[in-house]
Amino acid sequence: MSITDLEWYKSNSPSWKNPDLKGLDVDGSRYHSKEFMDKEWNHMWPKVWLLMGREDEIPNPGDYQMEEFGRESFLMIRQNDNKIRSFYNVCQHRGARLTFNDLGSAETFKCPYHGWQWRIDGELIEAQDAEDFPEGNPCGKLKLEEVKTETFAGFIWINMDKNASSLKDWLGPVWDDWEAYEIHKWKRYVAQTVNVPCNWKIILDNFNESYHLPTVHAPERAVTKRRMPSGVDTSYRSTQFDLSDEGHNRMIMRAGYGSMQKDGKLEDPLYSVMQEWDMNPDDYTGKGIETREAIQKAKRDNGPERGYTHYKNLRDEQLTDAFHYTLFPNFAVSLWADGFHFLRAKPHPTNPEKCVFDNWWYSSNPDKESAPVRTTVGISKRGEYADRDFFELGEKSLGQTIDQDTAVFILQQHGLRSRGFNRAYFAGQEKRIRRFHEMIESYFE
Ligand code: FES
Ligand SMILES: [Fe+2]
Repeated sequence: MSITDLEWYKSNSPSWKNPDLKGLDVDGSRYHSKEFMDKEWNHMWPKVWLLMGREDEIPNPGDYQMEEFGRESFLMIRQNDNKIRSFYNVCQHRGARLTFNDLGSAETFKCPYHGWQWRIDGELIEAQDAEDFPEGNPCGKLKLEEVKTETFAGFIWINMDKNASSLKDWLGPVWDDWEAYEIHKWKRYVAQTVNVPCNWKIILDNFNESYHLPTVHAPERAVTKRRMPSGVDTSYRSTQFDLSDEGHNRMIMRAGYGSMQKDGKLEDPLYSVMQEWDMNPDDYTGKGIETREAIQKAKRDNGPERGYTHYKNLRDEQLTDAFHYTLFPNFAVSLWADGFHFLRAKPHPTNPEKCVFDNWWYSSNPDKESAPVRTTVGISKRGEYADRDFFELGEKSLGQTIDQDTAVFILQQHGLRSRGFNRAYFAGQEKRIRRFHEMIESYFE
């Protein structure tokens, strides 16, 4: 069997339905025009499932998470029956925001303006001068406006459309792919939330293609520009690309391509990963390509005793290879056997040339493992989970790879404003971008 044989992959990770593209022209105005932003806000965002919160951050009744999203803000609240319900974060008296606190615990939400008190199930229980309302006492009558809420993979998802189909139907084949990893048990080790001066779709476009990997991310030390330091083969010829009917995309790239220096010695992080799994990486000098099966075997043999309970559910390629998903409309993840690189872009409330970008990392959480946790920004100590860190782009590093990505986001935002740009001229391997824009357009019909 050839290591570059794409058919091998397809037999293991069966292709999705891969619907035909319509051939939409993707012009620059959709990245900077207020009109296009309004169309998205009026027709698309109120209809889609959005990944918004994390169940384990609000474990007890009354615990809540507030998440801003464009012009809206939502409260996800753990109820007395342990379920999570979500509400618009807005008082029904005269529209004040109830809280700007992003995480907390409350018995009631007391509006800072006139003091109306809302119970965690959304009922109004106290209003000043309640007898003075010609339309009747608002208590027991008014409720916070609720939004549809479901949970999956430990995340809280909301949909502003009360008639939305179930989250499972929405996720389609992504649901089955992710279930095996037991992601609900994983813990967050990086949580950077950054204001970025570009349209939110520039970020999703970038995560919808691997064409930029050799030019933007190729480390100088690499022997060929098709190799990533983790030993992933980034050539489109050996990459599996999939589109789902639901509008989500997947890309699978094989590891074990061998990440070697000129003398054939393996490089980090592959070098250290082999040591962590009790292999001698020097035995693989000049034979990087053989590391893939060796790591799979080591994880298979030693994973369970180290507490990696999900390995039994994973196929061999899921133990080593790069599985990348883009979930329509605004979420992307690189999913590794032990890492969930959470990449989300949220629109700015009013400015189409700004957005909020989340660069987070969740790691599997085996009970017995004390090895360091490899994240997007470096190595973390196991058990040292991350609180949320809000900042402006440039104030801190997002990790080498994402710093490289954000630099091109800005370049592209500037260029897309130009009269000199007509439309994108896509490569075949960039078809997921066209599909993404065609999905957005489908909400305008
Ligand atoms: S706006 Fe909330 S109590 Fe008046
Ligand atoms: Fe990138």
